[in-house]
Amino acid sequence: MVWTRSITQPPCQPSATTTAGSLTSAAMPARMASPVTVAAMTDRNKTHFGYREVDTDDKVRLVGEVFHSVARRYDLMNDLLSGGIHRLWKRFAIELSGVRPGHRVLDLAGGTGDLAKLMAPKVGDSGCVVLADINDSMLSVGRDRLTDRGITRNVGFVQANAEALPFPDRYFDCVTIAFGLRNVTHKDNALAEMCRVLKPGGVALVLEFSKPRNPLLGKLYDNYSFHVMPQIGKLVADDEESYRYLAESIRMHPDQDTLKDMMERAGFSRCEYYNLTGGIVALHKGIAP
Ligand SMILES: C[S@@+](CC[C@H](N)C(=O)[O-])C[C@H]1O[C@@H](n2cnc3c(N)ncnc32)[C@H](O)[C@@H]1O
Repeated sequence: MVWTRSITQPPCQPSATTTAGSLTSAAMPARMASPVTVAAMTDRNKTHFGYREVDTDDKVRLVGEVFHSVARRYDLMNDLLSGGIHRLWKRFAIELSGVRPGHRVLDLAGGTGDLAKLMAPKVGDSGCVVLADINDSMLSVGRDRLTDRGITRNVGFVQANAEALPFPDRYFDCVTIAFGLRNVTHKDNALAEMCRVLKPGGVALVLEFSKPRNPLLGKLYDNYSFHVMPQIGKLVADDEESYRYLAESIRMHPDQDTLKDMMERAGFSRCEYYNLTGGIVALHKGIAP
């Protein structure tokens, strides 16, 4: 991936460099505005890719390979693997966002655009939604999908790493990240960046797989995700490995209370979470200071 330039004029303004229908790559800022140094592992040079311990520098590439591989079948697989329930989780997130006409929204790790598609009508022509993702295959599918549905006027697409966002401080009214945070190498940096780009009082929403509250449900879910999911991945997408990574990455992700603590350390206030489907998924909400 080539990072060519930084965005000096943010998207969603008439003269912006990024408009619906184009992808913009953004240079990494040399220094983050508000870095948080919370060690996720003892050795900052090592991290997890699923259950594997890998060099930190390799994780972005490995995660990139997964999403390049699944991009074309991503939406179909989401519906198949969740029985369509992911749509209800996403609708719940939108309901909690408080997004309204005129708002600027950033959908981080937005992938194929499920949240952007729901939020664009809510912000209207006076607002905008920026769909940002590190992976150009996912972004391309998302851009085509939204364009096919006629959602173009108030949506911008930016290729960017959640850990180093190419947006000014205090720019957005709402930042969402759905099923993206667990793939990010330094989650603490991504949370700090979300906090930085939000206006004071702005809402951050993290929708992510979490820890089932009931042990029996946990057992059933383990069985499903380690035995059934990779097989469906193999049959439908000819890709068992990516769906094994999905199951492992879910298990390595911080549980509800740990993620809430991380959000507080990143600077958010009034942090809370909602368990969905018995805690298989949790929606975390925080308010920017
Ligand atoms: C499971 S998909 C979720 C897509 C979408 N948000 C949804 O809910 O359907 C995870 C997305 O996170 C993106 N991603 C992974 N690491 C990222 C990073 N460091 N910065 C931005 N996006 C990232 C992937 O490219 C992928 O599109």
